[in-house]
Amino acid sequence: MKILVIGKSGQLARSLDALKEGRELTFLSRAEADLSFPEKTEEALRSKEFDVLVNAAAYTAVDAAETDREAAEAVNAAAPGLLAQICAERGALMIHISTDYVYDGSASLPLSEDAPVAPCGVYGATKAAGELAVRASGAQHLILRTSWLYNAEGKNFVNTMLRLGETRSSLRVVFDQIGCPTYSVDLAEAVYALIDAYAERGAEDFPLGTYNFANEGVASWYDLACAVFEMSGMQREVVPVRSSEFPSPAKRPAYSVTDKAKIKDTFGIKIRHWRKALRDCLAEKKLKST
Ligand SMILES: NC(=O)c1ccc[n+]([C@@H]2O[C@H](COP(=O)([O-])OP(=O)(O)OC[C@H]3O[C@@H](n4cnc5c(N)ncnc54)[C@H](OP(=O)(O)O)[C@@H]3O)[C@@H](O)[C@H]2O)c1
Repeated sequence: MKILVIGKSGQLARSLDALKEGRELTFLSRAEADLSFPEKTEEALRSKEFDVLVNAAAYTAVDAAETDREAAEAVNAAAPGLLAQICAERGALMIHISTDYVYDGSASLPLSEDAPVAPCGVYGATKAAGELAVRASGAQHLILRTSWLYNAEGKNFVNTMLRLGETRSSLRVVFDQIGCPTYSVDLAEAVYALIDAYAERGAEDFPLGTYNFANEGVASWYDLACAVFEMSGMQREVVPVRSSEFPSPAKRPAYSVTDKAKIKDTFGIKIRHWRKALRDCLAEKKLKST
């Protein structure tokens, strides 16, 4: 299977690269295919041969999106539709990555894929529109909704905590947003498991559609911060505070724990607890720094 990945520098793209082993993989960076420019994107894809397209690129600046709606819409809503149309024309499978921010956060039990989509901010709204565009394209597609993504190198909450912890003995972290932290390595493994299943089963009767994927377990940002310091052997005081004490331009869902039963049952994918994944990420980070 020839795999084309849109996005090269992002957390998921890096993990896909790190785990590629013998796979035929091509990455398109923003310089090669800027999703804000549909004609250039189309041109960049024209010369590429692929059986599977993974869209790992997105406008992910949640707060900036509130005042930069047009740019977020171009990348998160319009571009996935265009990529999916190209996949439909080529008969390729599109794997599109979406987010728990498509949910409004008012649930109190884990959200299945058919829970109502009602984003509470511009980022989530543009990602939800991207999902609709992919579905409407007629392309064979898998939409993976993931959450709270981190890896050893990216711009993410885990690395922010470690950076702040270098200079502070005490940190205030919100405890009233609950979700599922997800290591991008585990998400990349899931993407490959889906591609392998597609290669094995063939396009006919393949269980296409929308799937949640995140590490197992639940956490608040406060829990995650405590785990980061505990596992890194850093003695820091973490003070739980309400989101209202940290006003931000974008509202975030209070509860976005996803139910992963569908992807596990359909594809036999095993998902580990976020604490195990975090431990691996921190070990990788330590290894890289020595
Ligand atoms: N991060 C999270 O917590 C989180 C949570 C839930 C879902 N997701 C979803 O998971 C997917 C992967 O996220 P991630 O954390 O790996 O993303 P990331 O690290 O923020 O990287 C985003 C990628 O998108 C690229 N990109 C941004 N604007 C672009 C444009 N106009 N044209 C082409 N490429 C562009 C970036 O390129 P440059 O580096 O050149 O800007 C970068 O490669 C995304 O679909 C995201 O919405 C993420």
